[in-house]
Amino acid sequence: MPPESTRNRKRILGRCGVKRLSVFGEHGSLSSTIKPPVTFKSNHVTMLSNERLNALRAETPGCHQVLHLNNAGASLMPKAVHEAVTGHLALERDIGGYEAEEQVQPVLTHFYNAFATLLNVNPEEIAYVENATRAWDMAFYSLPLREGDRVLTHESEYASNYLAYLQLAQRRGIEIDVVPSDASGQMDVNALRRKITVNTRLIALTHVPTQGGLVNPAVEVGQVAREHGLLYLLDACQSVGQLPVDVREIGCHLLSGTGRKFLRGPRGTGFLYVSNEILGQLDPPFIDLHSATWTGADQFEYRPGAKRFENWESYVAGRVGLARAVDYALEIGVDAIEKRNSHLAAGLRTELARIPGVAIHDQGERKCAIVTFRKDGESAPDLAKRLREQNVNLSTSSVFSAQLDFARRGLDNLARASVHYFNTEAEIERFCKLVRGA
Ligand SMILES: Cc1ncc(COP(=O)(O)O)c(C=O)c1O
Repeated sequence: MPPESTRNRKRILGRCGVKRLSVFGEHGSLSSTIKPPVTFKSNHVTMLSNERLNALRAETPGCHQVLHLNNAGASLMPKAVHEAVTGHLALERDIGGYEAEEQVQPVLTHFYNAFATLLNVNPEEIAYVENATRAWDMAFYSLPLREGDRVLTHESEYASNYLAYLQLAQRRGIEIDVVPSDASGQMDVNALRRKITVNTRLIALTHVPTQGGLVNPAVEVGQVAREHGLLYLLDACQSVGQLPVDVREIGCHLLSGTGRKFLRGPRGTGFLYVSNEILGQLDPPFIDLHSATWTGADQFEYRPGAKRFENWESYVAGRVGLARAVDYALEIGVDAIEKRNSHLAAGLRTELARIPGVAIHDQGERKCAIVTFRKDGESAPDLAKRLREQNVNLSTSSVFSAQLDFARRGLDNLARASVHYFNTEAEIERFCKLVRGA
């Protein structure tokens, strides 16, 4: 059952196609009534109330400093998360780091429960890891991949993951099979089925790539993995916090993510999910006296559950802050977050497309909070720099982080604007004016 706050806040909005001046409605501001943009298919949209949005903005000090459309880079922390981190640092300062950790044991235990609720898994299947890349690495380098084993992935795969495939191809002779995209740009699930051979061991997919609004069909891919008894590793770094991610529904065995993006947690934090079902097949690349017990002069035992992928030393204040960030997202409700983000992102795409010389480059049947575009006559880095001078945070994606995807689409650089629920319609309209150069 969703948290009470979500249930209470569910409201039904009116029909689409209301008479309006902008894509967001007559007033186009947060204080005005929020109307779904015409791109919404459903007539009944669950949205956060304006009152609630105003409160969420009041709890986000950064909103009053910058126009932040870099939530896919690092979002703005809510006060509650910031206070959780700084409160713990103050405790470390005042009573000592180890002693402070002892005092917050209930919160550290809650960390696993909070992620278990968010992802629909068991608490012992969660590990704290310092970022998404290391979490993914701990999973990937644990797999029993040998010469001739094949890994199936997609053109949109995250750069660091692909580098790891290349390294294991060099080191152990694994083979990489890149599944092409369908007409919409997402992983072609039929092509995936056709590419499976007797040597295929793993499907590794990035749920939401860093370089666009695409949401890959993670559930359908999970179905294929199940049918063929293949291991399934999902990079959910950009999806957790902006979309509902239900591991049981998706059926992945391994999932990695980060704290600072759509979860609005502190930097230097991340997490890994490892299914109990496959734990015995994995051989962690590094162990220490937290992840294993030295049971005799020449023997050791792995720690039960996913904690065998953790380190002894870690950023305790970050763990406390990330636990608070997950609770914060659950209190708002991830369904409501996704709906709000779809509304904002669809409106942003519509408004940007009205600007002469601007082309939107997001792909996929289902699109998310990341909006990528190009403007004739102004490179993405130049645009980001110009906007930054006006306190507007925009990011860019380059071919160096998307060799397969961008080369195939003839792209070298894109501007990346990523919204989150606390952004307003008025901010998006201001952003579009600035992009236009008016
Ligand atoms: C899809 C995806 N995966 C993984 C990562 C790496 O995350 P981290 O920087 O936390 O290691 C990113 C970062 O942008 C990403 O976009």
